[in-house]
Amino acid sequence: MELFPVKSYLEYLFKARHYKGHGIHSPFMFELVSDVLFDRHPYYAFDEIRRYREKLKNSHQVIEVKDHGAGSHKLKSNIRKVSDIYRSSAIKKKYGEILFRLITRYKNKNIVELGTSLGVSTMYLALTGNSNIVYTIEGCPETAAVARAGFKNSGLKNVNLINKTFEDALPEIFKEIDTIDLLFVDGHHKKDATLRYFEMCKQKAGNDSIFVFDDIHWSKGMEEAWEIIRNDDAVTISADLYQLGLIFFRKECQKQHYIIRY
Ligand SMILES: C[S@@+](CC[C@H](N)C(=O)[O-])C[C@H]1O[C@@H](n2cnc3c(N)ncnc32)[C@H](O)[C@@H]1O
Repeated sequence: MELFPVKSYLEYLFKARHYKGHGIHSPFMFELVSDVLFDRHPYYAFDEIRRYREKLKNSHQVIEVKDHGAGSHKLKSNIRKVSDIYRSSAIKKKYGEILFRLITRYKNKNIVELGTSLGVSTMYLALTGNSNIVYTIEGCPETAAVARAGFKNSGLKNVNLINKTFEDALPEIFKEIDTIDLLFVDGHHKKDATLRYFEMCKQKAGNDSIFVFDDIHWSKGMEEAWEIIRNDDAVTISADLYQLGLIFFRKECQKQHYIIRY
């Protein structure tokens, strides 16, 4: 086992607090913790996602993967079983449910996702029942094809999957939308790349936008990127859940960083 994640996780455990609504002065943050992070209300949409997960877990399909990002810590060959890709890259249930509850609570309309993979996280973003549109970007054609089939099968009409690199797809999306209301960054986990996408997407951030970064402690470089992002002048509230980092731009809130035991 690599030493970096162990050290970084122990540091997180040491600093993280069990908030669950106590000791929070910001009303916005209080609501975020109680209504979004620690709400355990079951939604019908989760059944649909559970069925899709089962299908991927039991799939015998093999595809050729073209990597545009930082690669996988776990999978080395580019000929991969869909079931292995699912196990190594699909968002964990409890974090996917946060994305779903964020959108359910804050009614974000224009959603942008960097890193579709098989589309599991996209389903949490798209199945919220609000009239939102999800632009999701995946560079690998065969991976994107599996996701596309999954969206079709689930009857999703509000997903626009763009099979390009993030760099090429973002300017196209920006021609169509004024603000990114929710951004989920889950691909190309390198410091410089992450900061580049942040700078690009920040141009489209409004006061109520929410940006969510996955794997903020995946490597030293990702941790450095996260530190720079949360300290950016445009960012007021930030929350570190170890797996995910959330940032908010709300000018009415004081700048504050929360490390939350999740
Ligand atoms: C961790 S996976 C995404 C998992 C997905 N969000 C989920 O939870 O189900 C990252 C994906 O991003 C894609 N990717 C990485 N860097 C990219 C880039 N620069 N342009 C386009 N796609 C990229 C990879 O091909 C991979 O499928």
